Amino acid sequence: MVQTNSIGYINAPVPKDVDLKEAIKKLCKEKNAVILAHYYQEKDIQDIADFVGDSLALAQWAAKTEADILVMCGVHFMGETAKILCPEKKVLVPDLNAGCSLADSCPAFEFEKFLKEHPGYTVISYVNTSAAVKTLTDIVVTSTNAKQIVESFPEDEKIIFGPDRNLGSYINAVTGRNMLLWDGACHVHENFSLQSVLDLKNKYPEALVLTHPECKKSIIENSDFVGSTAALIKFAVNSDKKQFIIVTESGVIHEMEKRCPDKEFIPVSTEDGVSCNECKYMRLNTMEKLYNCLKFELPEIFIDKEICRKAIKPIQRMLDKSAKLGL
Ligand code: 13P
Ligand code: SF4
Repeated sequence: MVQTNSIGYINAPVPKDVDLKEAIKKLCKEKNAVILAHYYQEKDIQDIADFVGDSLALAQWAAKTEADILVMCGVHFMGETAKILCPEKKVLVPDLNAGCSLADSCPAFEFEKFLKEHPGYTVISYVNTSAAVKTLTDIVVTSTNAKQIVESFPEDEKIIFGPDRNLGSYINAVTGRNMLLWDGACHVHENFSLQSVLDLKNKYPEALVLTHPECKKSIIENSDFVGSTAALIKFAVNSDKKQFIIVTESGVIHEMEKRCPDKEFIPVSTEDGVSCNECKYMRLNTMEKLYNCLKFELPEIFIDKEICRKAIKPIQRMLDKSAKLGL
């Protein structure tokens, strides 16, 4: 039997005559498998997926799928969330090294210490966290539902929000709350350069600036619209403007271009001026790894049963609240 190797993915050579798209579809059919992909995946993966969505939509979809195998083309915490929601299913991620710098900025033992130092708080965690951090959490949020879920608590509720300080301070600003923030960030969104955004605004004076709330305050303040991946796409589709400066991972532009072929989407470079607006973790998944992952049914996500039992509660709370809020 093929084992997951120490490099986190199946490195078996794919024969040159294999048509990857056809072979992946065939394997999915044979094995009753579905492919879920985040908008930050490479174009071919988005195109072959059964479902493409943002973090909230992927969790909602995972919760209701009837397939036997679920391949999460995204990062590790997304695979974990799917496994927590469907513990009886086989959940695969093409490359287990697909981590998340934001989730890594909040190790569970440090978060636990922080919570002990601040007793009496309700703990709201962004979905970009490990399963272990979710066990310490009262309710999970994504960037799509964070504002509404925070607002669903009484105004004087003492809240700790982790791990993203940019999303947290944005939610504080739009809700007038004063949540205590964990000091974490995402390496992609944190490094977008305000100067690059301003330069592009000068170059394309008609363009609207669409920004993900994981970006810094200085950029958010210079944006026309701030929202989750799904909200940014929706805004672009519904807008009568023709040009948009996109301040988030550039993978989202694929869906925007598909849905709005007559509009122009301009990516922004990061702080160092280099156009590295791709999440290096998300982009570890490739069509070859996806093919091998389906073929060998590896690498698989495993989570300790006790962690699963505790972590499902704040995720389920989020899904229930989102359903009530019509999100
Ligand atoms: P959303 O999918 O919630 O917009 O989050 C973006 C992200 O960084 C995913 O890792
Ligand atoms: Fe994590 Fe940032 Fe990559 Fe999203 S873009 S998966 S937050 S590192």
